[in-house]
Amino acid sequence: MLLVIDSANIESIQELNEFFPVDGVTTNPTIITKEKRPFLPLLKDIRSIISKEKMLFVQVLQEYAEEMVKEAVYLKEEIGGNLYIKIPVTAEGIKAIKQLKQQGIRTLATAIYTPMQALVAAKAGADFVAPYVNRIDNLAGDGVQVVRDIVESFDRYQLSCQVLAASFKNTQQVHGVGLAGAHGLTVGPEILKSLVEHPVTESNVKQFVENWKLFYGESCNSVIHTQ
Ligand code: E4P
Repeated sequence: MLLVIDSANIESIQELNEFFPVDGVTTNPTIITKEKRPFLPLLKDIRSIISKEKMLFVQVLQEYAEEMVKEAVYLKEEIGGNLYIKIPVTAEGIKAIKQLKQQGIRTLATAIYTPMQALVAAKAGADFVAPYVNRIDNLAGDGVQVVRDIVESFDRYQLSCQVLAASFKNTQQVHGVGLAGAHGLTVGPEILKSLVEHPVTESNVKQFVENWKLFYGESCNSVIHTQ
């Protein structure tokens, strides 16, 4: 299962990349503009933090296929490394995904709301699809069920496209897409950290140390210095 950071914040990426087994970073135009700095140096900084081996996902802005393809080629030349171009799953986007597949540029079809959008994108040659779990839930849909249906249809038709579930607002949604068989998930810094946080775990850890000191003495706070 791939675990990806959904952020362009340098400090968060540095911290999460150090502590967690992350496979890469996803961005989108909104995420990038939140950082309030020129986008190309920002993306290059992200690339240098995560190294050229980890996945970096960058989205095109243009509406028409030919322009999307030009942007994709530009981003590949400028950023390099293990790069995936995010293409919105419109008809023009599908056309761009087909062309980029022929050119050997890898893509992620983004803004996926239905299993059919995912199926068409996968058939066009997308390497990933990103169903927007929380945004589907907000539209009175069932984001986890959409992910489950996409995974099932890819399995049924033996499509190699992977499901990178996106747009989360809570850990229950993350848990759900995990059970639904998503190949990966991209989550913001706060949710990523909260995946391992539990108040009882914290108090257990404190209790272990207290019990140790009660027996071995107050100064013994490491197994290395305990006789
Ligand atoms: C993925 O890269 C998407 O752009 C992102 O997860 C969308 O998340 P949001 O619904 O929180 O904006």
